Amino acid sequence: RPEREVLMQRCAELLRAQGAALVAHYYVDGDLQDLALATGGCVADSLEMARFGRDHAARTLIVAGVRFMGETAKILSPDKTVLMPDLDATCSLDLGCPAGDFAAFCDAHPDRQVVVYANTSAAVKARADWMVTSACALDIVGHLHAQGQKILWAPDRHLGQYIQRQTGADMLLWQGACIVHDEFRGLELELLKERHPRARVLVHPESPEAVVRLADVVGSTSQLLRDVQTSAADTFIVATDNGILHRMRQLAPGKTLIEAPTAGNGATCKSCAHCPWMAMNALQGVVAGLEQRTGEIQVDEAIRARAQGGITKMLDFVA
Ligand code: 13P
Ligand code: SF4
Repeated sequence: RPEREVLMQRCAELLRAQGAALVAHYYVDGDLQDLALATGGCVADSLEMARFGRDHAARTLIVAGVRFMGETAKILSPDKTVLMPDLDATCSLDLGCPAGDFAAFCDAHPDRQVVVYANTSAAVKARADWMVTSACALDIVGHLHAQGQKILWAPDRHLGQYIQRQTGADMLLWQGACIVHDEFRGLELELLKERHPRARVLVHPESPEAVVRLADVVGSTSQLLRDVQTSAADTFIVATDNGILHRMRQLAPGKTLIEAPTAGNGATCKSCAHCPWMAMNALQGVVAGLEQRTGEIQVDEAIRARAQGGITKMLDFVA
């Protein structure tokens, strides 16, 4: 596709000329992932995106993902310019946890440590003691539980329930869900497993309990990807956004990857196995951002300073 080649080249030139770094999530379009890797940026899970953006010397970051990822980058690096290909790319977890309602929930339970998932607004993070991602949520809540702390958790109820089962922590849960992972189905997955008895089942913990219980590996996108690379298995059933298959195929070319079943199919369910907000990221948005400074992330300084505390605690914990 010549138009695609031209756009890729234009993006690469602009990134180089402006000394900007492209930080992409595994769910975005494969061209953006390839561009990030070819230009010294990264393709990563949300924990690694946060760390990469903070540590990179570039003064401009282009975050190809959803809004909370851009905000996290800005919170950690207020002096950098953070651009996104499309500022309207949000997340159902973020939308389902408005800052005002969340603050009232926290006010009603002052005896609890407030732990929020990365998939939240800057204002919600500003109200939290800790921010976690799927890569480290279990370890951090386990650590707080071992100290005798009670937890207020938001917003993903499936991830919260999974952590509760694994750690035995006393957790009060906000009832949010990811519209993509919420669609994976346990019964259909069991039937698929019967047809592929040697397949290893990889599940993102935003999926419902019936799906998580069938998993061989539960983890963040990077953790699932690593398993495809390192496990001796040759067939995998993947219960997460199918955007990750692009990188999985590149890193494990000989392996068979099967998408986990969802409640609907492509015809009836627009968000099944692919996030509509991640899909808003395109090469054109990178060009517009670098040429015209569109899509710039701004975070109110008072909110930013408060939100930084919980994120920094997480990064120190995993360091
Ligand atoms: P990861 O941190 O595992 O990449 O997950 C981010 C996300 O939005 C999953 O839906
Ligand atoms: Fe949010 Fe789900 Fe999209 Fe991830 S896949 S950004 S959790 S809506």
